[in-house]
Amino acid sequence: MGITDCKMIDLPKIADPRGNLTFIEGQRNVPFEIKRVYYLYDVPGGAERGGHAHKDLHQFIVAMSGSFDVVLDDGREKKRFHLNRSYYGLYVCPMIWRELDNFSSGSVCLVLASNVYEESDYYRDYREFIEGRARG
Ligand code: TYD
Repeated sequence: MGITDCKMIDLPKIADPRGNLTFIEGQRNVPFEIKRVYYLYDVPGGAERGGHAHKDLHQFIVAMSGSFDVVLDDGREKKRFHLNRSYYGLYVCPMIWRELDNFSSGSVCLVLASNVYEESDYYRDYREFIEGRARG
C-alpha cells in the first residue's frame, strides 16, 4: 500500500441551527473497524508529532479543533495534507511514515485506529521502515 491509498474522506454532516453533528462509523465512513481512539491536545507551538510508521495499523485523523498538517511518506513520494475541519479526515493505510506539524494553538487531533496500542507495530527508525517496505 502506498500514498495513493491514503486519502481525505468527507464525513456526514447533519447541519442544524442548534449546532452541526458529524459521526464516524467503522467500516462505513472509514475503511476499517475502529478499536481505539486517542487524541493530541495542548500541543505547544512548533512541536512535531508522529515521526514513525505502522506495520499493520490503519488510522483516520481528524482536526476536531484548530488545524495542523500531516506529511505522509511511502518511501517514494511525500505528500502534505492540511486538516482544519471536523467534517473530514485523512485515512492513513499501513506502512506509511507520518509526521504532524504546524499545529495551531488550541488544536485537537483525533485519531481513530484499527487496533489497540502495540509498540511492536511501530517503525520508529526511518531506515528500518524503508528496509521493511523493500522486504514487502
Ligand atoms: P506516539 O505514537 O509516539 O505519539 P505521536 O505519534 O503522537 O507522536 O506515542 C507517544 C507515547 O504514548 C508512546 O510512549 C506510546 C504512548 N501511547 C500509548 O501508550 N497508547 C497509545 O494509544 C498511543 C497512541 C501512544
